[in-house]
Amino acid sequence: MSTVAEKHTNGTSPQKDRSKLIPFSSRLKEGRALAQDVWSIFNAANLPSDCINLGQGYMNFAPPEWVKHAAEEALNSVATNHYSHPKGRIRLREAIKNHYGPEFGRELDVESEILVTSGANEGQYSVFVAFLEQGDEVIMFEPFFDQYLPSVTFNGGIPVYVPLHPPKHDGKHSSSEWTIDFDELRRAVTPRTKMIIVNTPQNPVGKVFTRHELEQIAAIAEEHNLLVMSDEVYDSLVFDDNEHVRIATLPGMWDRTVTVGSAGKMFAATGWRVGWLIGPASIIQPTLAATTRIVFCSNSPLQEASAVGLEQAKKRGFLEQQRKEYTERRNILTAGFDKLGMKYTNPQGSYFVLLDISSVKWPEDYPFPKSVEGRGRDFKACWFIAMEVGVSSIPVSEFYCEEHTSIGENYARFAFCKDVDTLKQAVERLQNLKKFLA
Ligand SMILES: Cc1ncc(COP(=O)(O)O)c(C=O)c1O
Repeated sequence: MSTVAEKHTNGTSPQKDRSKLIPFSSRLKEGRALAQDVWSIFNAANLPSDCINLGQGYMNFAPPEWVKHAAEEALNSVATNHYSHPKGRIRLREAIKNHYGPEFGRELDVESEILVTSGANEGQYSVFVAFLEQGDEVIMFEPFFDQYLPSVTFNGGIPVYVPLHPPKHDGKHSSSEWTIDFDELRRAVTPRTKMIIVNTPQNPVGKVFTRHELEQIAAIAEEHNLLVMSDEVYDSLVFDDNEHVRIATLPGMWDRTVTVGSAGKMFAATGWRVGWLIGPASIIQPTLAATTRIVFCSNSPLQEASAVGLEQAKKRGFLEQQRKEYTERRNILTAGFDKLGMKYTNPQGSYFVLLDISSVKWPEDYPFPKSVEGRGRDFKACWFIAMEVGVSSIPVSEFYCEEHTSIGENYARFAFCKDVDTLKQAVERLQNLKKFLA
């Protein structure tokens, strides 16, 4: 028997296309996993080299010195360079217990109620692995953090979308004015619904869900026996005295809620890939089994540094100071939009501002690349703004299902997790949009 390679080299058979020899799994065909994603279209490589990147949500500043120092120390010790327990390093689990225990109003058990993961994202993926059966439905509010979709479909889940509705009035509005239609939410629940994802503060709207909204979601979860995934990765970035309510603390909700956190968001260290899950043993233990098979354990030295971050954050007043700094950053950006006279959503939390780009107009013959053709109007608007003004942003229709694209395509998302000088420069450039406003 001769192999394809032999036939090819001895010239006895025609040259075969060897680029698709092994068919890949059909699960990649779901959940837009193979679509050219928004991050690669609005990537620095495709945009003008001096374009200011307010697109992707990562900081252009370093983690605090004292947290970086802890990371260096961890790299210089032996044990912290080796495998951690799959549950996470005990020092970090203790730090999570001490930091979050008072917020949950309970003594967290470091052995069974806390799980360290490789970023929030891998933690969420592990929950889906642990709990979803083929065909289980997962409700998510739109616009949604884009990773939810493939993470759900890879695990056999079916995403069910419930849009947050933007305010209809003109003028300034707050993220609190993006509302849930609770009848719509109730209609979305079927006998196959297994889970609902709540994200507060919300990416990309910046909405901080109110206690009343969370109580209504909790009532639906209780009535239909749903697992609640509460993505609270921006919990340390809540502005203007808004109250961050943890749905797990509402009556009866601890037992059905897993709360998701991220060292990346908290300590300006998104590349460290350290996150955590907090919940009852009945949710954390199956998820531990899943994460152990996926990554075995998360990277050790940066867990140690994250532990130091959590241990010292409060006594250093770090989170308060960070909130002030982010408030200033937000205000610089929104003042720029005010000056332009454009509508936007003022976020109560997270580090994103949604700009209403429905008034931006471009010449009919503007040379758009193929990658933005056939997508929502916002793809063209974001491309146009990046090219003409030199500031990149992200089209929000990417965070909606096709049926609801028309809601998202009025908005561009600008991230303000950038230093003040960069934001001021961006705002100055954005004033050049004025001539393109209808
Ligand atoms: C809502 C939301 N959840 C989860 C994540 C993932 O966090 P991590 O970087 O810790 O995986 C992000 C990151 O952008 C996010 O915006």
